[in-house]
Amino acid sequence: MTADNPHTPLAALYPAHVQTLCARADEALAAGGFEHLLLPSGTLRYQFLDDRPYPFAANPQFKAWLPLEQVPDSWLAYTPGRRPRLVYCQPDDYWHLPPAPPHGYWAEQFEIIVVRSAAQAAEHLPTGSATARCAILGEPDWRLPGRVPNNPTPVLERLHWARAVKTAYELEALRMANARAVRGHLAAEEAFRAGASERAIHDAYLQATGHNDLDLPYDSIVGLNEHGAVLHYQYKRRDLPAAHRSLLIDAGATAAGYCADITRSYGDGDELFQALIAGVDGVEQALCAMVRPGVDYRDIHLDCHRLLAGVLRDLGIVRMDPESQLETGVSSVFFPHGVGHYLGLQVHDVGGFMAGPDGGRIEPPDGHPFLRLTRSLVEEAVVTIEPGLYFIPMLLAPLRAGPHADAVDWAKVEHLQAFGGVRIEDNVRATADRPENLTRDAWAAAR
Ligand code: GLY
Ligand code: MN
Ligand code: MN
Repeated sequence: MTADNPHTPLAALYPAHVQTLCARADEALAAGGFEHLLLPSGTLRYQFLDDRPYPFAANPQFKAWLPLEQVPDSWLAYTPGRRPRLVYCQPDDYWHLPPAPPHGYWAEQFEIIVVRSAAQAAEHLPTGSATARCAILGEPDWRLPGRVPNNPTPVLERLHWARAVKTAYELEALRMANARAVRGHLAAEEAFRAGASERAIHDAYLQATGHNDLDLPYDSIVGLNEHGAVLHYQYKRRDLPAAHRSLLIDAGATAAGYCADITRSYGDGDELFQALIAGVDGVEQALCAMVRPGVDYRDIHLDCHRLLAGVLRDLGIVRMDPESQLETGVSSVFFPHGVGHYLGLQVHDVGGFMAGPDGGRIEPPDGHPFLRLTRSLVEEAVVTIEPGLYFIPMLLAPLRAGPHADAVDWAKVEHLQAFGGVRIEDNVRATADRPENLTRDAWAAAR
């Protein structure tokens, strides 16, 4: 496990990461008028009338400090000027395997107190009058006696704003997550070429990454043929389709709690579909080159529409110039999602709409409600770039019935519907110089 390995490249970068988090917490607490920061890791939740827990997902606020994804009922407690304290819950439980004793490259940064129960953990958090001066960040029903999360807005806002800038440690974790996911993507392509089912492609992906389903940062999207047109296609069918025309696979991996989010599309050699993949790939690389400090991410999104509309025009699918396709909403029929989002501890990382460190909201452009990032980029921000072109019956029907129907070559659209769609997604870091494409670098290193 990454977190246990003293030789991981993360080890040397971690102390400075914690220092950065302390400085960010100092500022956030001061802005909110609080003296202590308390971060619960989270609690297990059980299904109704059952003893079966839902999969545990650690509080991302806790995960920012610690590469610990499966330690429920623990707390990070930080008071400015003091060493951060980790209250580590290692319950006596013979039904389940409890977390291992705390060890790993991260351990020496904390004062660690091991407890045996959630209730015991509370004894090691600020008490009495200090309780009122705690900013407690977590899901509202993550309760311990006297420790109900209050999620003060000024504290959350400052922390969320700051999360756009990745530390050197976080960047390394994101590179490692990309390397891991790329191993899975290579295996998935091979399985597709060998004629495997969606389920078997998914299994090949898991095997190559070393993850199991619950380790994934999100449910992988593994769509053969028409399923590529379902943006968040949620099944993995075991049966084999009559033909393997196309695969769209959107699948990630994690390292130390940080996420990769990568999509690739493959075809069977059909000329038009292959040209579509090449077109989207060219657009994707042009957009990745735009990931630079000072660039308004909304402009990348709108340029994505123009460039994709150019592909539709050049392939003779839509006979309209790109600007008119954007203005009339025709490009949105084929590209109905945002060009990307922040990436980090969460696949869709927080803070994408913030106007400043103390809040405010930048709305997406009119007509583009699914864009999740509207800020200007800064150095060390990591975003996804994920243009796509899809043939979605529900969206094509009104186009066919509307005033722009004549601009569309419906024979080509019908041909491409059998392939579903194309999406290509990389993870890209903005630097002062040329952007770092974490995904393509990992791909080049894996070959
Ligand atoms: N995998 C989800 C996304 O690309 O946003
Ligand atoms: Mn994705
Ligand atoms: Mn994404």
